[in-house]
Amino acid sequence: MASSTLHVCVTCRSETTAPDAERPGARLLAAIERRPVSERAGVTVVGVACLSNCQRGCSAAVTGADKWTYVIGGLDPDLHAGDILEFARQHHAHEQGLPVWRERPDHIRKNTIARVPPLQRHKEQT
Ligand code: FES
Repeated sequence: MASSTLHVCVTCRSETTAPDAERPGARLLAAIERRPVSERAGVTVVGVACLSNCQRGCSAAVTGADKWTYVIGGLDPDLHAGDILEFARQHHAHEQGLPVWRERPDHIRKNTIARVPPLQRHKEQT
């Protein structure tokens, strides 16, 4: 099965972030990359600049070929690296990228900003 991709916004900041401080989004990516390799099985982690969810950051998106896409917000780099990785593994494990609602981490259930259906493949009419 193709891997799921966890896109982590590295440009998210908080109202209290000093101008020269490391941004919380970058700290979230670093926290995810410090997790054990076993927690990242089947998940490709990449940093991105802005997911257009700036007012509810830190933000991340989970995508996969022919799967549903999710945008998650309100992620705290000190608390939620494990939660977003768990959700990404659940996304990877489900053929359509639809993790069972009650099995999702609590923070993910309460901070899902959007979900987007997979792109449909259409036959070209000739
Ligand atoms: S800067 Fe992170 S969503 Fe915009």
